[in-house]
Amino acid sequence: MTPSQAICLHSAHAHRGFKALLVLFAFAVGNSYAAIHDVREGDSIQAAVEAASPGDVIQVHPGLYRETVYVDKDDITLRGVVKDGEWPNLEGDKQLNDAILYSGNGFTVEWFKITNYKGNAIMGQAGNNFSIRNNWVIDTGVYGIFPEFGENGLIENNVLSGIEDAAIYVGMSDYIDVRNNRVFDNVAGIEIENSRHALVEGNIAHNNTGGILVFITPGLPIKTSYDAIVRRNTVINNNTPNFAIPGSLVAGIPSGTGMLILAGDDVIIEDNIITGNNTAGIIVTSQDFATDVAGDPDSDPNPDRVQIMDNVMFDNGNDPATEVKALMLTQFSTTGPDILAFKGAAHADRESCVSRKSAYRTFGLGDWGDCNSPTVRAADAVGSAPTLAGTTRGVSTKMLPEPAAPRVITVDADGAKLVYQGICAGCHTYNVRMIGPPVMAIKAQYGEDAGAIAQYIAAPEKKRPDFPTMPPQNHLSEEMRLEVAKYMLTLNK
Ligand code: HEC
Repeated sequence: MTPSQAICLHSAHAHRGFKALLVLFAFAVGNSYAAIHDVREGDSIQAAVEAASPGDVIQVHPGLYRETVYVDKDDITLRGVVKDGEWPNLEGDKQLNDAILYSGNGFTVEWFKITNYKGNAIMGQAGNNFSIRNNWVIDTGVYGIFPEFGENGLIENNVLSGIEDAAIYVGMSDYIDVRNNRVFDNVAGIEIENSRHALVEGNIAHNNTGGILVFITPGLPIKTSYDAIVRRNTVINNNTPNFAIPGSLVAGIPSGTGMLILAGDDVIIEDNIITGNNTAGIIVTSQDFATDVAGDPDSDPNPDRVQIMDNVMFDNGNDPATEVKALMLTQFSTTGPDILAFKGAAHADRESCVSRKSAYRTFGLGDWGDCNSPTVRAADAVGSAPTLAGTTRGVSTKMLPEPAAPRVITVDADGAKLVYQGICAGCHTYNVRMIGPPVMAIKAQYGEDAGAIAQYIAAPEKKRPDFPTMPPQNHLSEEMRLEVAKYMLTLNK
């Protein structure tokens, strides 16, 4: 179907009185009629996106859709219609890289089944004010749901399995709620990376290599990760052997990790159930935990002000990974702990605390305070205002009360920076191998030749035997490819 053939059911079918109401409503929200575009098996979702205007809903009926959908307009909703158990299924056949890429603001995607892509199921590229809800994602390669460099977003009620890196990966983003998702059989279940102001609540993370992670990856343009509440999650049996791409960052997560706080600051872990994780329930550690990770002069490698409160933990550590086992042997035990503070995490200067410490088997918490002690800083210093001192139970969201200003990507150096942060930094850091090679190595290879980079990224060919092939960036204009290539060459940390 061509874009002009897209079926648009305008609300104008409604009878007069109702129509008057709609006009009023449309007036109130400052919009003309939002059109609904119906897409059925055999049609192209992308064609409907091309035909849509901001505010429109694209309604996708059950059936198989083999495509990559790019959404660069604002305020588009992609809504699957699930009928009698039949879903609209985006199928990548392990040939296509990505199912849905969006750079528009105000994007909503819900009720899709997404299977067998190589790169991402749903990736946000610098779009603000997004909602990703009620999707079912199976084996979509490196990442499942991956908003990169977005502000004010909701990720809820999704089910994800079989992802080689992080199933839900909040990358360099702010003001994000991740709630009521189920993640299993992935390497990392939920990862909050170089992000600020996140609420991770009510999720079930089971049978991953690591359940829930709060991380700083060095070498990215955003250098910090702080203010995360990880609350009321169920984190069980995360003992799947690590099947990440060898050499990638998450390949260093030991199997059997319930939660991993790596260099993240102001993380509150409260009211979770954490059990059956064979290495440890919660590991709090510094950047040198992930071996062969080089430092970043602008990132603090230590986790500061971590608060662990009122979690139910038992039956963790039954078969710890080698490094943790060696630690435990120093205490004449072969069982891993419920809570492990490791490397830089243990020191009193970190100002971390735990409540009811004696309820848990712990290692390395010697200098930690008691979160219930009135002298330990209360949670409200973190940024939001809890109703009870020392607990987050009064905080219901980290999303913003009003939408964030939409990001506008212009074809110049400013726009190139947004594109770099929204796209390239998903796979490239300055000095560390992530999915792609470090920028340092790319600079050494290309010198000043931005033109050659611009050319490569339009249609990347396979270069390195031990890396995947880079997905083409030909959705960017030729001018933008050149701008972003130039920007990449200016990076020096
Ligand atoms: C989904 C992950 C991913 C994203 C996003 C990505 N890259 Fe890459 N990139 C890779 C991988 C993997 C390689 C290594 C490919 C190979 O060696 O075959 C690579 C290699 C490269 C190279 C080296 C090419 C060579 O000749 O060796 C350049 C330059 C590059 N990427 C630039 C970019 C730019 C600019 C962007 C953003 C517009 C970007 N990449 C986005 C994964 C990615």
